[in-house]
Amino acid sequence: MSQEKSFHMTPDEFRRCGHAVIDWIADYQSRVESFPVLSPAKPGEVRASLPEHPPGQGEPFAALMKDVENLILPGVTHWQSPNFFAYFPCNASGPAILGDLVCSGLGVQGMLWSTSPACTELETHVLDWLVGMLGLPEKFLSSSTGGGVIQDTASSAVLCALLAARERSTNYLSNEKGCDGRIVAYASTQTHSSLQKASMIAGIGGSNLRLIEVDKNFAMRPEALAGQIAADKRAGLTPSLVCATVGTTSSNAMDPIGEIAQVCREHNLWLHVDAAMSGSAMLCPEFRHFQKGVEFADSYNFNPHKWMFTNFDCSCFWVAERRALLQTLSILPEYLKNRATESGSVIDYRDWHIQLGRRFRSLKLWFVIRHYGVEGLQHHIREHVRLAQQFAEWVRSDESFELAAPVPLNLVCFRHKDGDQVNQSIMDGLNRSGDLFLTHTRLGGELTLRVCVGQTHTREQHVEKAWQRIRQEAQRLAVV
Ligand SMILES: Cc1ncc(COP(=O)(O)O)c(C=O)c1O
Repeated sequence: MSQEKSFHMTPDEFRRCGHAVIDWIADYQSRVESFPVLSPAKPGEVRASLPEHPPGQGEPFAALMKDVENLILPGVTHWQSPNFFAYFPCNASGPAILGDLVCSGLGVQGMLWSTSPACTELETHVLDWLVGMLGLPEKFLSSSTGGGVIQDTASSAVLCALLAARERSTNYLSNEKGCDGRIVAYASTQTHSSLQKASMIAGIGGSNLRLIEVDKNFAMRPEALAGQIAADKRAGLTPSLVCATVGTTSSNAMDPIGEIAQVCREHNLWLHVDAAMSGSAMLCPEFRHFQKGVEFADSYNFNPHKWMFTNFDCSCFWVAERRALLQTLSILPEYLKNRATESGSVIDYRDWHIQLGRRFRSLKLWFVIRHYGVEGLQHHIREHVRLAQQFAEWVRSDESFELAAPVPLNLVCFRHKDGDQVNQSIMDGLNRSGDLFLTHTRLGGELTLRVCVGQTHTREQHVEKAWQRIRQEAQRLAVV
């Protein structure tokens, strides 16, 4: 009998190569601190090291891993280094990596309940768990009027919220007829730019996104919001959605959700709460005062892929009224019809977001929650907050530096008192050194350094070293 020709990896080969990859990842974790955190690669350098043409014949797996080591690693910025303090974190952890591997191994596409019941039901279950774990209102539970879904990013989540709000405020006519340029959305000047992009995509129009002024702590001013809504109504426009943020990207400012919710209720506006990073802190009851009023939200989003030790991508999105979201996004072509859907007794997540196809992302979240338990997650969040507060204390007591914003959780915004040029040079010098990676923002017009303590393995010694290096760099510049 002739052997059928095949180029596929056999299960035995897969086992052998798979063990090698797991060993490589474990080794990477143990030596991650030996690499410069910010990749020193110059533009085009990685590509220049790659062959111009794809291989005609398949290559040994060992050759691939050798190239990962020699060609790819030098072009990697090490987000999983404990010396990563830039932007907001993008966490990975052992259980999440393994959950993601199981997801890849199963290779499920869970667009409908019937295309993999476990993919849908585990997701619904884990999102219901998280409602309790984060102190969110019961209306977000799948057993109530709402429910949760895993989206890729907070950007997609806010787009879905905006689309549902747009539909609700136009009596579900804008999907059919298009937008008339009169729909208006509101956020603070500090709100993440993803809402601006969502406004463009949703046909609201960039100029119909009103950026409301903030107070001295960079939080939205509810009275300014109320004034703007009233003015827009007088002008015959259709106010639709307000986005409030728990922990803005620039400075971790906390919008007053309760007062904003009251304005939304007066005018029947959709309230979306974006808690992309800081939502993870709500695992700890002592931080939940930052989202006081969340019981009035129409939708809520947080990213376990930022600060809950879950690999990118994993963004949890809840709505209080799933009907509004489904009425906005449901489309059922003939080729997707099936008995389970028609019975009305299952969730089909294809209707809960933009794309049709979806991965089994709840596996990694489930692995994380079961590995750490609520206690383990709380422990590491509290530790990060403690370390950031300690860092803030060091800044306060150093006469060359000052805090630039309140430090509610794990982000410290600060600056050297000698002005923008010095702060820029401190940041550039440190990032070039490879010892740590930090980024900046502008607050009150001044260049401000940001240190965000949230990488999975960041511990006291890393934060201490970061502060030492910042001071050293400032002293070195003073001498030059
Ligand atoms: C408050 C806030 N919202 C939204 C986003 C966008 O996140 P994503 O990359 O998940 O779209 C970010 C990113 O840092 C953020 O900080």
